[in-house]
Amino acid sequence: MQLHLSPSMRSITISSSNGFFDFMKVKIAARHISSRTLFHAVLILACLLPFVFIVTALVTLEGVNKCSSFDCLGRRLGPKLLGRGEDSGRLVNELYKTLNQVRSVEVPNDLKLPENFTQLVNEMKDNKYDANEFAVILKGMMERSEKEIRESKFAELMNKHFAASSVPKGIHCLSLRLTDEYSSNAHARRQLPSPELLPVLSDNSYYHFILSTDNILAASVVVTSAVQSSLKPDKIVFHVITDKKTYAGMHSWFALNPNSPAIIEVKGVHQFDWLTRDNVPVLEAVENHYGVRNYYHGNHVAGANLSDTTPRSFASKLQARSPKYISLLNHIRIYLPELFPNLDKVVFLDDDIVIQRDLSPLWEIDLGGKVNGAVETCKGDDTWVMSKRFRTYFNFSHPLISNNLDPDECAWAYGMNIFDLRAWRKTNIRETYHTWLKENLKSNLTLWRLGTLPPALIAFRNHVQPIDPSWHMLGLGYQNNTSVENVKKAAVIHYNGQSKPWLEIGFEHLRPFWSKYVNYSNDFVKSCHILE
Ligand SMILES: *[C@@H]1O[C@H](CO)[C@@H](O)[C@H](O)[C@H]1NC(C)=O
Ligand SMILES: *[C@@H]1O[C@H](CO)[C@@H](O)[C@H](O)[C@H]1NC(C)=O
Ligand SMILES: *[C@@H]1O[C@H](CO)[C@@H](O)[C@H](O)[C@H]1NC(C)=O
Ligand SMILES: *[C@@H]1O[C@H](CO)[C@@H](O)[C@H](O)[C@H]1NC(C)=O
Ligand SMILES: *[C@@H]1O[C@H](CO)[C@@H](O)[C@H](O)[C@H]1NC(C)=O
Ligand SMILES: *[C@@H]1O[C@H](CO)[C@@H](O)[C@H](O)[C@H]1NC(C)=O
Ligand SMILES: *[C@@H]1O[C@H](CO)[C@@H](O)[C@H](O)[C@H]1NC(C)=O
Repeated sequence: MQLHLSPSMRSITISSSNGFFDFMKVKIAARHISSRTLFHAVLILACLLPFVFIVTALVTLEGVNKCSSFDCLGRRLGPKLLGRGEDSGRLVNELYKTLNQVRSVEVPNDLKLPENFTQLVNEMKDNKYDANEFAVILKGMMERSEKEIRESKFAELMNKHFAASSVPKGIHCLSLRLTDEYSSNAHARRQLPSPELLPVLSDNSYYHFILSTDNILAASVVVTSAVQSSLKPDKIVFHVITDKKTYAGMHSWFALNPNSPAIIEVKGVHQFDWLTRDNVPVLEAVENHYGVRNYYHGNHVAGANLSDTTPRSFASKLQARSPKYISLLNHIRIYLPELFPNLDKVVFLDDDIVIQRDLSPLWEIDLGGKVNGAVETCKGDDTWVMSKRFRTYFNFSHPLISNNLDPDECAWAYGMNIFDLRAWRKTNIRETYHTWLKENLKSNLTLWRLGTLPPALIAFRNHVQPIDPSWHMLGLGYQNNTSVENVKKAAVIHYNGQSKPWLEIGFEHLRPFWSKYVNYSNDFVKSCHILE
C-alpha cells in the first residue's frame, strides 16, 4: 500500500499492490466525496497523524506507561474515528496490520526522520511512501518525541535541583574556611604576587589570563589545568577577579596554593576604581529592574507554554533563569580594556572550563585587526551543540531585532576568547553593548533572554575573528552524548550548561576530565568533603 499527497494538498492517492485500493484518488476540494472509504483515508491522514503526536505526548506526560503508543493509538482512535463501512474496514485493517508489523521493527539509526509533522506532510507530497516505510518513520518520530519529552522532564528536575542547591555545601564550606583562614593566618594574607613580581602584571611579554568567578574550587581547577598544560608555565600570569564576599577566601586559596611558577593576582571588583556607577550605569539598572528580578527569581515553570516550545528550547529557557546571568562578574568581560589599561592581548576564561593544552599559540594567531578571537558555534560534528545562530538567541518577532540583525548569522562562544585590547580600545564596543542592554530593558526583556552573550553578539559584530574549533569544545554541561574522543583532543573543554562537574547533576563520565585537577590531598578540600 502506498500513500501520496499531491503537492497542492488537494488530492490524495492510495495504491495497493493487491489491487483492491489500486490507485484511487480523491480531490479534497471536490464537492462530493463519493466513497466512504476515501473519506476515511483522508480522515486518517488529516486527523490521525497529528493526533499520534498529541496522544503520545499526553501519554508520556501523564505517565501512563502501561500501554505503548501504538496500542493507545488504536484504543483511542479505533471505534470513534473509523466507521463501519466494509471498504473502510479493509483500509483500516490494512493500516493497522502495517502498524502492527512495525511494532517489533527497530527504527534504523541512520533513518532520516522529518523534523516535525509539517515536514512529514511535505515529504509525502514529494515521495510515494510504501506504507511500511511510512509506519517506520511514524514510529521513529514517535520514539524521538517520547524521548525528548523525557529529556525535558529530566532537564526540569535538574533545574529544580540546581536552583535548590545553587552553591553545593562543599563549595560553600571551602569558601567559609578559607575566609576564616584569611583572618587567622598571616601567610594566607600575604601579598599576591610578591612585591618584586608586581611589574609582571602589566608586562606584555607574559601570557595574561583573566578569570572572573566566585567559585574558588572552579578557579583552582582552571588555574591548575592551565599551569600543568603549559609548556612555559613561568610565563603565565593569572588575573583572578572575584566579588567582595569571596575575595578573602579566594586570596587565601591562591596564597596557600601558589601554582608556581605561574604568577597569580587576585582582585575583588571593589578594588577596581574604574568600576563606578558612572562607568557602569547599566549594570545597576539591570540588577534592580523589577522584571529582571521577577524573571530570574520567580517561579521557573509557571507560565511556561509547553505547546509552543520544543523540550530542548524549554530546557534552555530554564537554564537561562540562572542568577549568574545578572551578576557583575559575568558582565565584567566587556570592561577588560579599561580594567587592564596596560595589557595588549589577554585570554578571558570562564570558570567552567578545563585547559588541556598549551595555550600560548593563541597569542600568535593573527586576528587581522579584529578584537575577539572566538570559536564559531554554528557548524560542527555535534549538530545540537554546534547549531547556534542569531535566531537561537534573539526574538526575531521584535522589529528592533529583525530590522537590525540577520537570523542566519553564525554565533560564537564565550568561555575562551583571545582579546586584542589595543584593537578593542579603538572601537565603541562597550557603548554598543550598553545601548542594547538599555533597549532590552526598555522593551521589557523581549529582545533576548539569555544574559551576557546576546548583547555581546551585537556589540562584537564585525570584530570577531573565528579560530579553529579544536581550541574550545562546548556543551559538556548539557550534551550527555559528548564524544569522549573529541574531549580528549580539545585544547579547552567547556562545561557550559547546568550539569557543572562540581554539581551532583554533572555527567559522571565527563567529570574526571575536570576532577583530575582538584587537589584532593589539600586539607581544605578534604575537610569540606568536596565531591565525595
Ligand atoms: C518543521 O521543520 C522544518 C524543517 O526543519 C522547519 O522549517 C519548520 O519551521 C518546522 N515547522 C514547525 C511548525 O515547527
Ligand atoms: C501556548 O501556545 C499555543 C501556540 O502558540 C497557544 O495556542 C496557547 O494558547 C498557548 N497557551 C498558553 C497558556 O499561553
Ligand atoms: C513588562 O512585563 C511585566 C510582566 O512580565 C508586565 O507586568 C508589565 O506590564 C510589562 N511592561 C511593559 C511596559 O510592557
Ligand atoms: C518577541 O517580540 C514580540 C514583539 O515585540 C513580543 O510580542 C513577544 O512577546 C516577544 N517574545 C518574547 C519571548 O519575549
Ligand atoms: C549519559 O550517558 C551515559 C553513557 O553514555 C549513560 O550511562 C548515562 O545514563 C546518561 N545519562 C543521562 C542522564 O542520560
Ligand atoms: C551520540 O553522538 C554520536 C556521535 O558523536 C552520534 O553518532 C549518535 O547518534 C549520538 N546518539 C544520540 C542518542 O544522540
Ligand atoms: C595539593 O595540596 C597540598 C596541601 O595543600 C600541597 O602540598 C600540594 O602541593 C598540592 N598539590 C598540587 C598538585 O597542587
